[in-house]
Amino acid sequence: MKVVIVYLHGKRIGEKLFNYMFLYIRMDPIVILKRVHKTFLLGRRAVPALRGVNLDVERGEFLAIMGPSGCGKTTLLNLVGMLDKPTEGRVVVKGRDATSMSDDLASDLRLREVGFVFQNFNLIPNMTVLENVQLPMRFAYMNRIRMESRARMLLNAVGLEDRMEHLPSELSGGEQQRVSIARALANDPSILILDEPTGELDSEMGHEIISLLKRLNKKSKKTMIMASHDPSIASYADRVVRMLDGKVVG
Ligand SMILES: Nc1ncnc2c1ncn2[C@@H]1O[C@H](COP(=O)(O)OP(=O)(O)O)[C@@H](O)[C@H]1O
Ligand SMILES: [Mg+2]
Repeated sequence: MKVVIVYLHGKRIGEKLFNYMFLYIRMDPIVILKRVHKTFLLGRRAVPALRGVNLDVERGEFLAIMGPSGCGKTTLLNLVGMLDKPTEGRVVVKGRDATSMSDDLASDLRLREVGFVFQNFNLIPNMTVLENVQLPMRFAYMNRIRMESRARMLLNAVGLEDRMEHLPSELSGGEQQRVSIARALANDPSILILDEPTGELDSEMGHEIISLLKRLNKKSKKTMIMASHDPSIASYADRVVRMLDGKVVG
């Protein structure tokens, strides 16, 4: 139908159509939060963690969310990562409404589309570095040979080619965080969620990790959403959104 219109009306309409389609593709956010509220119940007390958050994240964007402890950053990341559901409002991830989907679908999407990096690395202590990175692929039923070669490739990419057989406890904090970044990339997700990824590291290691993340973002075009309360870390992102008391304030 579109082709017929272009043919009948000539070049100008064709151009307009192209521009319109281009605009549409560019303005198709990978994550949309609309009037999102999240209230936790602590006994009988309601704790409002998010209070009407609106936020769009573009494909390939490296977004930092800054704000003081307790302002709702982790709660927001958990909603985007489909670990939790909002009390009110809508969360849309890659065109799917995460608010209404079943828990099974949410865990499947989470496994394939989202990689998590946490402040405290969350590595399995009795598994080697190589096994830790393979774990998400095992959950996704990838075959063993592919799984191992992909884990080796990812560990190479984060500069840990000579640490593969070590246990996490034998590595420095910065190295452990590199392992967790490789693990987050295991199933080639389109979104990486980074919750204070440099929070446990000294300043030098923190800057090494954030530079690595920045390089990965530019090279792989993966969308990255990072919480941080450190302005010098957040400044590596393409865009910084500030939160206060459960709201986006700028
Ligand atoms: N599971 C929970 N139960 C009760 N209150 C919670 C829970 N998770 C977070 N909160 C509260 O929600 C608010 C936001 O927390 P959080 O999202 O962890 O903030 P941040 O990551 O910015 O430090 C805080 O007041 C916190 O105490
Ligand atoms: Mg937090």
